[in-house]
Amino acid sequence: MSLVMDDKAKHEAMMEKIQSGQKLESLDEITEDYKDNLLKLMIAQADSELAGAYGYVPWIEGAPNMPEKLAMANIVKDEIRHARAMYDLLERMGVDTDKLIYEDKMQHRMKVFYEPINSWADLVMFNFLMDRAAGHQLKDAAECSWGPWSRAMIQIEKEEWMHVAHGEHWVKRLAEDTKTKPDVQKALEFWFPKVNKVFGKSGTDTNKTFQQFKLKQRDNHDVRESWYEEMKPLLEGYGLTVPGIDVVGQ
Ligand SMILES: [Fe+2]
Ligand SMILES: [Fe+2]
Repeated sequence: MSLVMDDKAKHEAMMEKIQSGQKLESLDEITEDYKDNLLKLMIAQADSELAGAYGYVPWIEGAPNMPEKLAMANIVKDEIRHARAMYDLLERMGVDTDKLIYEDKMQHRMKVFYEPINSWADLVMFNFLMDRAAGHQLKDAAECSWGPWSRAMIQIEKEEWMHVAHGEHWVKRLAEDTKTKPDVQKALEFWFPKVNKVFGKSGTDTNKTFQQFKLKQRDNHDVRESWYEEMKPLLEGYGLTVPGIDVVGQ
């Protein structure tokens, strides 16, 4: 059998497993194309976990009271643990993770992680919007066709929803206080368009490929919408004005 035929047979066997809902477990079962697409998504998540942790670090010192210092430290610990789980998976696939962490980080990091967090209102709004965005994205990853990633995501997703609850508690509290309400509204207007972008563009070919391989279950825009539909009534319930969703997500 020629090499081309081998590749074709491998692709067909792989697609059959994917379509019947089986998980892929070893590098022998996957094509280069699948692996490239998988690595793109896993590297993006690994870097986001790490960058997320770094973003929270200054807020251990910046937290308004002692219980909040512990809450911030716990979120940092969770995010570093998520990052470690992701880099461990990548290492087992033969990826040079030190290179990713120490040399290539600028290539992978999402813009939102470079934005300044200047106040506690900024921090809790980032927490409210961004951890919830992660929760919605990880829901797809938890159902993905790559077994090791899917299993790792189940615990990570649970912890993201605990972070979301923390953000909710604080946004509600600051919004209900007339003194801090303008700050939290301003923070919402600052973060909203930036977090809207982290879902990526709608309806791209790359996204269709991710869905064919069941590396994602939905188009980026469907994930963005599920995020929006969930948080809009919450924020409006706190008396805040919610910006409109950007359907293109550019
Ligand atoms: Fe995380
Ligand atoms: Fe988180």
